[in-house]
Amino acid sequence: MVDVEEFIPDAVAEIENEIGDANAIIALSGGVDSSVSATLAYRAIGDRLTPVYVDTGLMRKGETADIRETFAFMESLRIVDARDRFLDALEDVVDPERKREVIGEAFIREFEREAKAADADYLVQGTIYPDRIESEGGIKSHHNVGGLPEIIDFDGIVEPVRDLYKDEVREVARALDLDDVISERMPFPGPGLAVRVLGPVTEEKLAIARESCAIVEDELESDDPWQAFAAVLGKATGVKGDNRVHGWVIAVRSVESRDGMTARAQQLDWETLQRIQSRITGENPSVARVVYDITHKPPATIEYE
Ligand code: XMP
Repeated sequence: MVDVEEFIPDAVAEIENEIGDANAIIALSGGVDSSVSATLAYRAIGDRLTPVYVDTGLMRKGETADIRETFAFMESLRIVDARDRFLDALEDVVDPERKREVIGEAFIREFEREAKAADADYLVQGTIYPDRIESEGGIKSHHNVGGLPEIIDFDGIVEPVRDLYKDEVREVARALDLDDVISERMPFPGPGLAVRVLGPVTEEKLAIARESCAIVEDELESDDPWQAFAAVLGKATGVKGDNRVHGWVIAVRSVESRDGMTARAQQLDWETLQRIQSRITGENPSVARVVYDITHKPPATIEYE
């Protein structure tokens, strides 16, 4: 386990040393990894760091407001509303890997513009150890690891938490006094809710995924899963009043894991599952049914795409 008393000053000194008196930029996602990296880098170089949060429209419920509040102390914080641009880019895209590519490309376009405006020489990234392993192994394209450096020519890349596991990053977050909303937050994929809606990404499906994920996170907080969320699978029949309807099928997933590389489906009690079902169908009238995913990783992945 990481010794935070040692890690924090060392990391700050290393960042100062690497960046010198140049400018740097970091993409803040709202997750613990980028939040910790940004906070360490801000300690090292202050407003010469431009933290950029791109609202892709694929983020969790309340994420933009949380970011605005948590990082209000960083005067250089930039919040970019790119929701329409991402939705346009994703129109009719169904292949999961293509979805990731399109999101990665759209993200790079946003980020490139911001990096130029900030006159940034260095890129700070919240890459953690398991990200590097999965990307090197080519299991899937993690847009927070690939892409950016090949396209934007930075003098250097600084990855303050590159050797840490997620639980260690959380320890550092607590020691840095980051809000619980950040330090205790479940992991969230870079491509966001787009990999939690199967098939084409539409505003309607995103809204249902966003609301359902918030319900699942809320209801399962005390079960302490490593990650829990909902995904929009497709449509099936249901009954509303006297009518048969064609409504959305929502999968609920809750897993235990140390690093996301393997995971076990969590055994939840029936009452909890029923409460989730009744809230999701009650609060989202177009949802016809809710199913619980009992598959471990492997053979499944944690996310759906
Ligand atoms: P899978 O679905 O591959 O996910 O079992 C393993 C862990 O990684 C997260 N994940 C991502 N994290 N960028 C990220 O930063 C991504 O593109 C990405 N895709 C998946 C996922 O939420 C899980 O915690």
